[in-house]
Amino acid sequence: MLVLGIETSCDETAAALVEGGASDRWQIRSNVVASQVEIHREWGGVVPELASRQHVRDICGVVERALADGGATWADVDALAVTQGPGLVGSLLVGVSFAKSAAWALGKPLVAVNHLAGHIESIWLEHGPIVLPAVVLVVSGGHTSLYLITREGEYALLGRTRDDAAGEAYDKVAKLLGLGYPGGPIVDRLAQEGNDVAIRWPGTRLTNPDRNAPERDGRFDFSFSGLKTAVLRHVRERQAALGTGQLPREEIVDLAASFQRRVVETLIDRTFSAARWHGAKSIGIAGGVSANSRLRHDAMAKSERSEIPVYIPRLALSTDNAAMIAAAGLRQLALGRVAPPDLNAAASLPL
Ligand code: KG4
Ligand code: ZN
Repeated sequence: MLVLGIETSCDETAAALVEGGASDRWQIRSNVVASQVEIHREWGGVVPELASRQHVRDICGVVERALADGGATWADVDALAVTQGPGLVGSLLVGVSFAKSAAWALGKPLVAVNHLAGHIESIWLEHGPIVLPAVVLVVSGGHTSLYLITREGEYALLGRTRDDAAGEAYDKVAKLLGLGYPGGPIVDRLAQEGNDVAIRWPGTRLTNPDRNAPERDGRFDFSFSGLKTAVLRHVRERQAALGTGQLPREEIVDLAASFQRRVVETLIDRTFSAARWHGAKSIGIAGGVSANSRLRHDAMAKSERSEIPVYIPRLALSTDNAAMIAAAGLRQLALGRVAPPDLNAAASLPL
């Protein structure tokens, strides 16, 4: 089966060809991503209207490129998979309309994919079948959620953020420090130069000791807004003390390192607690923030200490891409799930 995946949920227009049978490992034949970062940078974040217009401009070229890179023509495509949601509705509609039209014209089946399922399947796409049950952390700009997977293709939600997503916290802290957009990779890079115990965040624990603690019923929620507010307060205090809006670089790198330490510790603690609680035999970490250097390093180090294998996709499959959407499409096809011809985009599609 050769599946053409299409992803337009946010600020990347992406198309990819992934091949797979019922039992063999999925193979990436091509993986094309047209990033809109340069367009949105000027505004300090994604502007939905600009995003959908750019998707319209890019979609045909990106799909043609994915076919060419994969050495395929339209006739070779067995099925299409498209992100139905969650995401920006105007952006999603570009991919959904394109995929529906192409599937109709070709007479090939179309599969609707939940973007978060795509992130989860990026782990299988990279590593092949991992031992189940698995606990998977999906950590991105819009989501921070834990899933228990006892059967391939079925995702049971264990917990999620009650406020900001981890990537969103990164982006907001970067914006506050005037570092630019998107904030995750910038803060990650600066953090590597800083002292991670320079700042002790009062934040979440003092105000509510249980906010980031596992709950008794086995739910594992996250909260990042307390930390974000603590960073905001710290920056305002330092700006007032120094009498300038621009903090010195030494302070910024320490702040980035201390912030990153708290975020990564929270993500890893909660994920490993959930894995222990549910008797998971493996852990997966996916989504844009799984590109974070400290998260990758610390998760692998803890994996060795606790003897539970941790699987993270390569960087190109961590951030938004269409290969993961094609992979999730192959999974759905194997389960016999195809989309109806009146498929619509769903901005807050749950998983
Ligand atoms: O999965 P993704 O590409 O898009 C969404 O589905 O949201 O994730 C994007 C998020 C952004 O918030 C970005 O700042 C964050 O992932 N991110 C990172 C890193 N690279 C991307 N966060 C921390 N460290 C990174 N190296
Ligand atoms: Zn994503």
